[in-house]
Amino acid sequence: MDELLIGLIGAGGMGKGLARAAAGAEGGRVVAVADPAEGAAEVAAAELAEDASIDAYRDVGEMLGREDIGAVLVAVPNFLHAELVKLSAEAGKHVFCEKPMALKVADARAMIEACESAGVKLMIGQVLRYNAPYVWMIDLVRTGELGEAFGMQVTRIAGPWGGRYRSTWRMKKETSGGPLFEVSAHEIDFMRQILGEARTVYASMDNYVNPEADYEDFAHVVINFQEGGRGALLAGHAAKVGSYDGKIFCTDGSILFDSKTGQVTYVAGDEEQQSISYAETGEGYERGVDREVREFIEAVLDDTEVTIPGIEGLRNTEIAQAAQISAASNRVVELPL
Ligand SMILES: NC(=O)c1ccc[n+]([C@@H]2O[C@H](COP(=O)([O-])OP(=O)(O)OC[C@H]3O[C@@H](n4cnc5c(N)ncnc54)[C@H](O)[C@@H]3O)[C@@H](O)[C@H]2O)c1
Repeated sequence: MDELLIGLIGAGGMGKGLARAAAGAEGGRVVAVADPAEGAAEVAAAELAEDASIDAYRDVGEMLGREDIGAVLVAVPNFLHAELVKLSAEAGKHVFCEKPMALKVADARAMIEACESAGVKLMIGQVLRYNAPYVWMIDLVRTGELGEAFGMQVTRIAGPWGGRYRSTWRMKKETSGGPLFEVSAHEIDFMRQILGEARTVYASMDNYVNPEADYEDFAHVVINFQEGGRGALLAGHAAKVGSYDGKIFCTDGSILFDSKTGQVTYVAGDEEQQSISYAETGEGYERGVDREVREFIEAVLDDTEVTIPGIEGLRNTEIAQAAQISAASNRVVELPL
């Protein structure tokens, strides 16, 4: 197989981004889009291919019935990931699924099992680990020049959802999981890239400024990692002045990153303090979305392991779910769930 025909499930903003990345990757060709919302698949198909070479479906099952399609990109609202990944696997399609993989560990497990028993690959779109400056920081820590990483503190907090996001599935916990799933699946994954697998989770959270939303909009999560490291995450939608910043503490160095200044500042060993701009950290790296989709297509075409398998999404889901259990019960939750 030297070309992989791909169907997109979910014609929203992210789905179209994934489809463009797939169309740009060697060996990938997007041939169909499925979305039940009136006109959504047609509009996306026309946007993605001016030559009408992409077919539009309102019925996902009909698209999945096409034998020529070898893989799908799943970019639907979070609560539908599990169902559509399982349907796709049962139809024999390799699956790329957006983050957060699932809203419950049990669902993530069922997704992995469905793909394994169908003999198809499953990759999760934890793209932040490929995005500058995060990939740059992960790579710097992995050089060992800063010693061993033992701690992290990450803040990603914004104001309430605005614009087109406000009236959608993102506003309900049942459909989005709330900020720890919908947004901070990325930060949880980033912390795991640096500190390894989690051992315990303690969280405290509540809703302060979004009375129309049923999720906690201000969450503190403390994670103890199996290798002895500790991480703290502040996440939510309760800040009029948003921020996305953090620190990584290592035994012989440390890193500070801040999206407001657009700078990563670090000290490695006995060297002077140095700074690099976010833009510069991206030099030499492929765009995250292009990389994740290219790697997925290559894994299918070459029949190799995917680079971000289902277990990675499961572990991130597990930490977010453990945080909810912890906050509801005011106790430290031990993993695995
Ligand atoms: N990796 C990232 O940084 C990133 C960024 C944005 C969104 N996402 C993720 O991508 C997913 C989609 O987000 P979005 O911003 O594109 O949302 P969106 O609301 O813009 O689009 C979702 C689309 O899915 C469609 N849909 C709903 N039910 C469906 C079904 N049963 N079958 C097929 N399509 C269905 C909707 O009609 C809509 O067109 C979410 O899981 C989100 O968390 C990831």
